[in-house]
Amino acid sequence: MKIVNVVGARPNFMKVAPLIRAMRACGEVSPFLVHTGQHYDARMAGQFFRDLELPEPDASLEVGSASHAQQTGEVMVRLEPILERVRPDVVVVVGDVNSTLAAALTAAKLQLPVAHVEAGLRSFDRRMPEEINRVITDAVSDDLFVTEPSGRANLLREGVDPAKIHLVGNVMIDALEQSRPRWARSGIHDRLGVRPDEYGVVTLHRPSNVDDPTTLQGLVDALAEIARQIPLVFPVHPRTRRQLNTLDGAATNIRFFADGRPAKGLYCVEPLGYLDFVALVAGARMALTDSGGLQEETTALGVPCLTLRETTERPITVTHGTNRVVGTTPARIVAEAFRVLDDRGPVGSRPALWDGRASERIVAVLLERSASRC
Ligand code: UD1
Repeated sequence: MKIVNVVGARPNFMKVAPLIRAMRACGEVSPFLVHTGQHYDARMAGQFFRDLELPEPDASLEVGSASHAQQTGEVMVRLEPILERVRPDVVVVVGDVNSTLAAALTAAKLQLPVAHVEAGLRSFDRRMPEEINRVITDAVSDDLFVTEPSGRANLLREGVDPAKIHLVGNVMIDALEQSRPRWARSGIHDRLGVRPDEYGVVTLHRPSNVDDPTTLQGLVDALAEIARQIPLVFPVHPRTRRQLNTLDGAATNIRFFADGRPAKGLYCVEPLGYLDFVALVAGARMALTDSGGLQEETTALGVPCLTLRETTERPITVTHGTNRVVGTTPARIVAEAFRVLDDRGPVGSRPALWDGRASERIVAVLLERSASRC
């Protein structure tokens, strides 16, 4: 069975790595890897290939950054001839980035079966580009692999045939568990000068939080206030860095971290690789984030997470895990962070099937579905 797997942006890499490993292990699948190049910096892509032991891509589309229409269109134009040449039995797409949508559409129009891993998640906020990507990718997919029961419920409500929906667990947790021995050896704490359980981790990159200077300033002020109580390490996404550069650094307490100094206050660092980042999160007292994936990783690691958004498409991280959706009002963020520092936040438990075996289940379903199509 020939399977084309498509990755493009940072949150795709840790989802496809365990899938390819499971495909290779089963002996019946020949995986073909396409990298669209939506993310291209060493820190956003290359380091992740190394950390996750992903094979070299069989095809690199090198689309780079552009407007949504340009980026989506360019992936489609460059992927189509590859799919026509390879003629896979199925095309696997993961997550909700522009590359996910573009690849799913291209494959569906070539009448190739599409499997979407991490299907069915909904924030019900169409101002998020990812929400549009999720809805359309799911609509053209033939097999929908969901991480949590809300995914199944959302798809059923949208009229998806129940036979296409498979609750299999979470491939991100597969990556986390498979790489545990390696991230447990990361030297990131020493490199940053922080001690486990005595710092927080911040990530911010959603356009709704970082693209408007007033909103970003409010968030940075809140973080600076929290950082008076506990050092906050903030690996800064390139989109956010560009926006931070427009703010007044002196007024916001933003300092970029120099190696070898003990971290105090709000310390911005370059984006980290996968192993260092997971190690940093695993040792943190709390995370403050607008990322989707980090809400899941903190739930799996038992680290309290404050989500700086109004919604989450991953409600199980709130009902079962360690996540609280606290919005973007600075005073509320500060109050919630101090609550976590006082009472250590929600304890939570791991959702069912987040056991490190989701990729194996997905490959088993793909083989079965392919056999039934023959
Ligand atoms: C994308 C995804 C988002 C995901 C995020 C993770 C979409 C619509 N968004 O957002 O869902 O959570 O990735 O990081 O697909 N840039 C670099 N180097 C890179 C890549 C990007 O400097 O390797 C800069 C460019 O200036 C670019 C900006 O970051 O314009 C934004 O990149 P883009 O891929 O458009 O969106 P993200 O914000 O990264």
